[in-house]
Amino acid sequence: MALAPVRTTGAIAAAALVSVVLIFLVSEYRSKSKIPSKKIRLKKSKKGLIDAIGNTPLIRINSLSDATGCEILGKCEFLNPGGSVKDRVAVKIIEEALESGQLRQGGIVTEGSAGSTAISLTTVAPAYGCKCHVVIPDDAAIEKAQTLEVLGAVVERVRPVSITHKDHYVNVARRRAAEANEFALKHRKTSQLDSEGIEQINGYRSDEDSHSSVFSVDCQGGFFADQFENLANFRAHYEGTGPEIWEQTNGDLDAFVAAAGTGGTIAGVSRFLQEKNPNIKCFLIDPPGSGLFNKVTRGVMYTKEEAEGRRLKNPFDTITEGIGINRITRNFMMAKLDGAFRGTDREAVEMARFLLKNDGLFLGSSSAMNCVGAVRVAQSIGPGHTIVTILCDSGMRHLSKFHNSEYLSQLGLTPKATGLEFLGYK
Ligand SMILES: Cc1ncc(COP(=O)(O)O)c(C=O)c1O
Repeated sequence: MALAPVRTTGAIAAAALVSVVLIFLVSEYRSKSKIPSKKIRLKKSKKGLIDAIGNTPLIRINSLSDATGCEILGKCEFLNPGGSVKDRVAVKIIEEALESGQLRQGGIVTEGSAGSTAISLTTVAPAYGCKCHVVIPDDAAIEKAQTLEVLGAVVERVRPVSITHKDHYVNVARRRAAEANEFALKHRKTSQLDSEGIEQINGYRSDEDSHSSVFSVDCQGGFFADQFENLANFRAHYEGTGPEIWEQTNGDLDAFVAAAGTGGTIAGVSRFLQEKNPNIKCFLIDPPGSGLFNKVTRGVMYTKEEAEGRRLKNPFDTITEGIGINRITRNFMMAKLDGAFRGTDREAVEMARFLLKNDGLFLGSSSAMNCVGAVRVAQSIGPGHTIVTILCDSGMRHLSKFHNSEYLSQLGLTPKATGLEFLGYK
């Protein structure tokens, strides 16, 4: 009978049609719901946390661009996994130290910092089999010590003294690295003696060899990260941030502006961009209390009252964090600058609120100051130019001070601007 093959052929055709429709529907669903195919997902995935650092987006800050007539672009460093621009620096410092043999796997990276660098070092250290020992002044916000501890650092809080004092937190951090090295060396020798059959009592050696320190027995020595003087910091930006900005703008930019703490960012980026095109103008924006503005504009680093060795860091110089300094660091020395602007705390506070309201950008104090700098540059070079700056970290790190209404009101800094009138715009 001819009917059966006809039925079979019909059934096959119907099944084929159903399959085609199903495949079409699934692929439509995938593309609409943006579920990537397995192949694409694998191709796009990062090899661990370290691989996710850098290559941050460069965004047009619409409100400032529209107001100034310049293209003002912000590099979103707050999107790094450790939450700031310092992730790049932490990776570079650790990788260079491991390569040079100054740091071993299982070693302790020490740093004197209450800020983002310590958080970044502690965040990336486990990927290299290392640990962090962070020394901070005991007047630093308690959340900072808590955050570092939760991330896995050993945190040592010391009283705030001048940088010239041996117990300044940076000097203590340097000393702890040396002590960790001595400790590891001693321990290695002890283990050697033990394996050669030296007598032990209940598994312990005499007290001379035991440690009362903060280091664990398996400590493989220490390395002082030294973000201010270690040029790995500069190289992180010269090899990373600078080239990314160049590529993201197709080399079509007129100016770069940033504030400086260690100086690593401004030095690395300015040097890279000016080597690519000497016509790109690079500027510093300097917060109150910092001596760098004078250095860049007049060649004089500081006045007597500002000398780093003469006073403690005065927390009331500026409410911005991580920027401003009264000494020239090796990193800052690498910068190629065409000029500098001064920014005030009020401008930074108003800018932060303005960007939050108009662009939805929730930024920290140094990023806000950088945006003040971008507007100052726009006013100085005129409309029609492209200006790049750095959005260093998010406002989330600044809830107890810079983004705290009570704190701001005590300092008479409650934001009141409705637009950009604090920078001279009607
Ligand atoms: C949040 C934040 N922004 C900006 C800076 C300044 O960057 P640099 O040290 O590269 O000058 C720092 C430095 O610690 C920082 O912590």
